[in-house]
Amino acid sequence: MAEPRNRYSTVSLTLHWLIAVLVVVQIFVVSDANTDGPNAGFWIGLHKSTGLSILVLTLVRLGWRIANPAIALPADQPKWQRVLARATHVLFYVVLLALPLTGWLASSAAGRDIVWYGLFQWPLLPIGGGRETAGQLMDIHRALPKLLYVLLALHVLGALKHQFINRDNVLHRMMPFIPRRP
Ligand code: HEM
Ligand code: HEM
Repeated sequence: MAEPRNRYSTVSLTLHWLIAVLVVVQIFVVSDANTDGPNAGFWIGLHKSTGLSILVLTLVRLGWRIANPAIALPADQPKWQRVLARATHVLFYVVLLALPLTGWLASSAAGRDIVWYGLFQWPLLPIGGGRETAGQLMDIHRALPKLLYVLLALHVLGALKHQFINRDNVLHRMMPFIPRRP
């Protein structure tokens, strides 16, 4: 029988941690301290560019994920915990797509140019509606981070529970520098 995998592939690890860092940066970039200040245009431009990068990376990650199915969670975990963990992962993907998409659609509806890190014009989506539609899309865009924070709290608490209560290797397989338990 094939040896069960005991860590995620380097591609999965890189995408997980790169996206996690970018998401945190992304939220700080758009904090009120930046967007209410004199350089608001710079920070919002940076936010749009990083958000679209997260969108592309998430699509790559989903493609990789479909081609390389996840490792099973420990079979001795209660079923509700495995379902909760997987539901959190699925909703992460939904939010990581919906957040940049609503931002991109709102900019498109309002006809606001996006220049990716000042390098090139990012195409706008063919959606009309003007400022009103943009405002509705931004209402969704401002609500979704709340779901993201709930997911992140559940996710980190779950990881800590595995590490310190179950004392299994779930955190090790996403953080291989943490020593593997026998
Ligand atoms: C914004 C930050 C984060 C996001 C969006 C995120 C998202 C995800 C997603 C979507 C998965 C499922 C991977 C898959 O099977 O397709 C995953 C797995 C995992 N994440 Fe995160 N994560 C974040 C931060 C963290 C942090 C801070 C930790 C550690 C404290 C962590 C620990 C893990 C572990 C251990 C797994 C593997 C679970 C398993 O083996 O099934 N993540 N993460
Ligand atoms: C994963 C990607 C993204 C995340 C996590 C994210 C998150 C956020 C957060 C937390 C806010 C602040 C909400 C508030 O003030 O209540 C925000 C605002 C905003 N986002 Fe995003 N966003 C993402 C992608 C994008 C993209 C791709 C665009 C446009 C192309 C965009 C455009 C905006 C704009 C215009 C604002 C309002 C800024 C202001 O005037 O204060 N976002 N976003």
